[in-house]
Order: sequence, then structure tokens, then C-alpha cells
Amino acid sequence: MDQAAISGEIEAIAEAYQSSGAVETDVRLDYPPYRSSILRHPTKAPHQVDPEGIELWAPVFGHQDVDPFEADLTIQHRGEPLGERMRVTGRVTDGDGRPVRHQLVEIWQANAGGRYIHQRDQHPAALDPNFTGMGRCLTDSDGFYRFTTIKPGPYPWRNHHNAWRPAHIHFSLFGSEFTQRLVTQMYFPGDPLFALDPIYQAITDRAARDRLVATYDHDLTQHEWSLGFRWDVVLTGSHRTPLEEDHAA
Ligand SMILES: [Fe+2]
Repeated sequence: MDQAAISGEIEAIAEAYQSSGAVETDVRLDYPPYRSSILRHPTKAPHQVDPEGIELWAPVFGHQDVDPFEADLTIQHRGEPLGERMRVTGRVTDGDGRPVRHQLVEIWQANAGGRYIHQRDQHPAALDPNFTGMGRCLTDSDGFYRFTTIKPGPYPWRNHHNAWRPAHIHFSLFGSEFTQRLVTQMYFPGDPLFALDPIYQAITDRAARDRLVATYDHDLTQHEWSLGFRWDVVLTGSHRTPLEEDHAA
């Protein structure tokens, strides 16, 4: 299976979606161009649970458990990681625009060469001894999160021959309850791999897809130090940031 065949499938699904007149803002779980989703997407409706019951046994964390240094992925080792240093910040709100305060935001990402520290990632790009690729922080009283990291590289994956993921950062965010967790990916503006990527394209709605792309913000960029990107997240409502249920790429 080559990229042209996958791109043809992506285009056919996009055309069918556009002509249907429907509005579909979440990730499609059954999206055949993303090959492994064929076998592992849920085929039954989610099991409804009592959200208050879950609060009784779900993990909890307090303010002291997250060190502010964990928000800087460039200072976790003795030396500086390779790559473009950048700040990523944004505001987490609910569907009514209210800030989601003091809640946990976690990120994980590949290094500048597109390599994860993971047993299953053995493609021939260098590991960076000064970069682990994981960080977390709590949102502030206005709902803002802030990270300092390096720009991840695109990386190959085995969906089809010559398949490459656009550069992205994985995000996990909690709302005010553990049942309000959102897991998704943030992308970078203008990535040439967007049209080719079956994970990004599994959100069939263009406007919803665009909500996963950060904007470059020169006011966030620091003189001779780092570039700045801004990416806001909406946990609920019709402008919700598209979420994913299950994938590991
Ligand atoms: Fe990834």
C-alpha cells in the first residue's frame, strides 16, 4: 500500500463527508486509511458510568505534586536538547468560555529528529540524551498552561509504505473531574504532511481539524531564546477540541 492509495481513500471519504451535509467534529474511530483502527476501534457504544461514583476511586493529585520545573522539557538533563527551543502556551476553557483552573495538563512528544524514547520506536533517527519528551503542569487561575520544549520532528510510522506523521505534541488534559479527560494532538502551522496523514484526516471536518493546529505568536517569541506558539483548548461544547479515543502513533 503506497501513499497514493491512502491519499485516494482519504479524498474519497472527504468528498463523501462534504456532500453529506453533516457536521462531524470528532475523530472518526472507524477510519480505514488509518489501518490499525480497522481492528481496534470500539464497535459498541461506550459504557455509561456514574461520574460521581468514579470520583470515589479515581486517582487524585494536589497542587504540591506537580513541580513547576516539570513544565520545562529542556532542563531535565545535564545539557541542552538539540532542536528549536520554543514555548507553547494556551488557555483551557469549558464550552461556555470559563477557564479550567488548576488542572493537570500533560504532554509527550518525539525529539527534534522525530524519535521517541520507546521500545517500539527503533527507526534510524538519533536519540537525544538530553531530551526525554514528557512534561506536565497545572493551569493557572485564568486557565493558562505553559511549556518550554523543543519542536518535535516528523517521524515515519508503519501505516503504509513511506508514511510520515506531521510534527505534533500529544496532550492530555483534565477538566474539573477525572471523567473530563481529553487526549489529543497539537500540530504546527503549514505542515506539508497534513494532507497525507490518516490520523489528522480522521477528523473529517476541516474547521474541527484546524482547531488542532497551533498559531505562531511573535509576542510569545523571546529575543535570541525561543519561538512562541499558542494553542487554546476547549473541553466541551460545539467548539470542543477534537479528541481521540485510542491510538498510539
Ligand atoms: Fe506521536
